[in-house]
Amino acid sequence: RSMIVELLKGQGAPVGDIVTVKGWVRTKRGNKVVSFIALNDGSTINNIQIVVNPEDFDQDLLASITTGACIRATGKLVESQGKGQSYEIQATELELYGIADPKEYPLQKKGHSLEFLREIAHLRPRTNTFGAVYRIRHHMAYAIHRFFHEKGFFYFNAPLITGSDCEGAGQMFQVTTLDLNNLPKNSEGKVDYTKDFFAKQTSLTVSGQLEAELAALALGGVYTFGPTFRAENSNTPRHLAEFWMCEPEVAFNDIHDNMDLAEEFIKYCVQWAIDNCMDDIKFLSEHFDKELVDRLHWVLEKPFRRITYTEAIEVLEEAVKNGKKFEFPVYWGVDLASEHERFLVEQHYKVPIIVTDYPKEIKSFYMKQNEDGKTVRGMDILFPKIGEIIGGSEREADYDKLKQRAQEMHVPEKDIWWYLETRKFGTCPHSGFGLGFERLLLFVTGMANIRDVIPFPRTPKNAEF
Ligand code: 4AD
Ligand code: MG
Repeated sequence: RSMIVELLKGQGAPVGDIVTVKGWVRTKRGNKVVSFIALNDGSTINNIQIVVNPEDFDQDLLASITTGACIRATGKLVESQGKGQSYEIQATELELYGIADPKEYPLQKKGHSLEFLREIAHLRPRTNTFGAVYRIRHHMAYAIHRFFHEKGFFYFNAPLITGSDCEGAGQMFQVTTLDLNNLPKNSEGKVDYTKDFFAKQTSLTVSGQLEAELAALALGGVYTFGPTFRAENSNTPRHLAEFWMCEPEVAFNDIHDNMDLAEEFIKYCVQWAIDNCMDDIKFLSEHFDKELVDRLHWVLEKPFRRITYTEAIEVLEEAVKNGKKFEFPVYWGVDLASEHERFLVEQHYKVPIIVTDYPKEIKSFYMKQNEDGKTVRGMDILFPKIGEIIGGSEREADYDKLKQRAQEMHVPEKDIWWYLETRKFGTCPHSGFGLGFERLLLFVTGMANIRDVIPFPRTPKNAEF
């Protein structure tokens, strides 16, 4: 078997060799004398052309080779006379694996809306667009592992079922084996979770950070990379109920080291996309986002601008004074909305920014408190078109302060006693962050909706496939 990606680069086999390709028919055109099949095997956005002399083949077989059908083609690899392709195959054998009846197959030649394709998530990988997106998704996952591996970090796996709420935002999906129609009750009339599988209330994790932290306090530098879950009922183009997050955590790093690492990391990923996914990126750019390639280079060019939350609010207040209209109000203490974040990046600083030192009330209990008693050492990286792509912080390393903060923010000690213990035994300054994998993919693919960068998006009312 030869992969089309290699054949088209002239690497799969020398010209004149007999090669075999297996894939799905994109188009078939031609006449009685010659027909051309554009075949795609998923290895690249590009198709290879199969040149067929109809006289050499069974007519029923040829008639069954329609858009979407799966075939094997064997023949001589020759340099192509046609424009825009390097090599083609002169078919000597054709085998049909599976028909795709034109009366039923929904992906005929004409373009389909992304909304329609979401309704056929089981078939959309067959389109050029989703082939490109899923290949880029793979390359970005590989880039993440490669970056951290090269730096001597260890890949650490946090559990998906957990008894604690890392972000303390109460956005957990419950996991239970209890019969929901007949819930056991305790003497107080509440659900008796001691009768449940784990003998306690559990949920799907919102973040692997707490576990990553305890790993960092043993292995030095670690990262998690896996699915996380949020039952936030926000139907936006940037939120999923199930999304992937990469969370590095590093012992002895302060907030400045953390920003350096995050910036280097995200630039590495973007550079990787440029170096390894350009065919797919160019295709997506042509169809969805003409400025995509420029924007990718643009984030690499300059250092990210680092500002405090207080400075960000000042800039936004100044803008409002000068007539800028925002949907949500701006004042010190407010959580920045996506419109604020995008204004700062796209219109004010015109470079990705890292915002630090947020009011403690709007950030999680684990962030290290500043001397001022009001702010914490959190950091968010804001990107053009995306808004927040990374969120992180230096962690509170002091046992008493952390315990107090957890209490203030109503995070039950019984759920995180093990996490608190790491501050009792050999605690140290440490920092980490979480990259929203699909947000990174939105950025490198130029897609506008997060539902289009994950194979099976989980959003409110959407778990069909
Ligand atoms: O800012 P978040 O909530 O931070 C954490 O979960 C920390 N525990 C990370 C850490 O410090 N280790 O989420 C981190 C990132 C966000 O910046 C965003 O990119 C992405 O995860 N994210 C989402 N992506 C898609 N859908 C959602 N509902 C998301 N919520 C957060
Ligand atoms: Mg955040």
